Amino acid sequence: MVPVMNLILLGPPGAGKGTQAELLAHAHGIPQLSTGAMLRAATEAGTEIGKRAKAVMDSGGLVSDDIVIDIIADRIVQPDCANGFILDGFPRTLAQAAALDKLLAAKKKSLDAVVAMSVQDEELIKRIAGRFMCANCKAGYHDEYHKTKKPGVCDKCAGTTFTRRPDDNADTVRQRLMVYYRETAPLIGYYYAKGNLSTVDGMAPVAVVTKAIENAVASASKKSKK
Ligand code: AP5
Repeated sequence: MVPVMNLILLGPPGAGKGTQAELLAHAHGIPQLSTGAMLRAATEAGTEIGKRAKAVMDSGGLVSDDIVIDIIADRIVQPDCANGFILDGFPRTLAQAAALDKLLAAKKKSLDAVVAMSVQDEELIKRIAGRFMCANCKAGYHDEYHKTKKPGVCDKCAGTTFTRRPDDNADTVRQRLMVYYRETAPLIGYYYAKGNLSTVDGMAPVAVVTKAIENAVASASKKSKK
């Protein structure tokens, strides 16, 4: 078990950030902060932010930095983040990373680790194309890699209606990948230069990736205590 942590999971669409963030959040009792999930909730609720974000998300682009930075600024000061949090899908641009640095410094917090998950492009497309979720409890599944135990019935809530994300179609996925390489991949260099980057093989089975992330966080935290 690793100590309480402020962790960023970095990776392209479909790398498994959400899958791993959920597992680690559950194991460590800290929240998973997914800007994608928060924006989708805003869209479903029909809020002003949700309305502004929807078209951008559906086209595979990035929602504006000011919107997501405000969301994260509000979220990381909530009491449930006091013992740590796992950022999933944020930051995604150099401007967001710089804003996060400022937010953390202002709250006398720091990042314990940034873990980049590497997965081949063809595999990313396969993972996204096969992804679906329970319409009721939002539990995530995959046509091939993570089927429901009983066909057509959610393992968690026994719901029988499933949905797919509107941005999970082939054209939008390619656009999301392009945006990732242009806007988000430079963050790998940014965090490497700051000295808190670790890379894990995201092609491995889910449990192996979880262990690799835990090991990366543990060694980053040992390094920072030296
Ligand atoms: P977001 O929701 O963050 O989507 P994403 O980054 O494109 O990532 P995904 O959720 O598609 O993939 P993931 O890496 O979480 O993989 P998952 O675990 O699901 O963002 C959506 C949109 O919101 C963006 O395009 C943008 O418009 C906007 N947005 C969000 N944040 C923003 C920000 N900060 N700034 C601006 N705009 C922002 O896994 C995928 C599938 O693979 C699943 O089916 C899973 O079961 C399977 N799987 C996972 N791991 C493995 C494994 N090891 N082996 C086999 N299968 C696996």
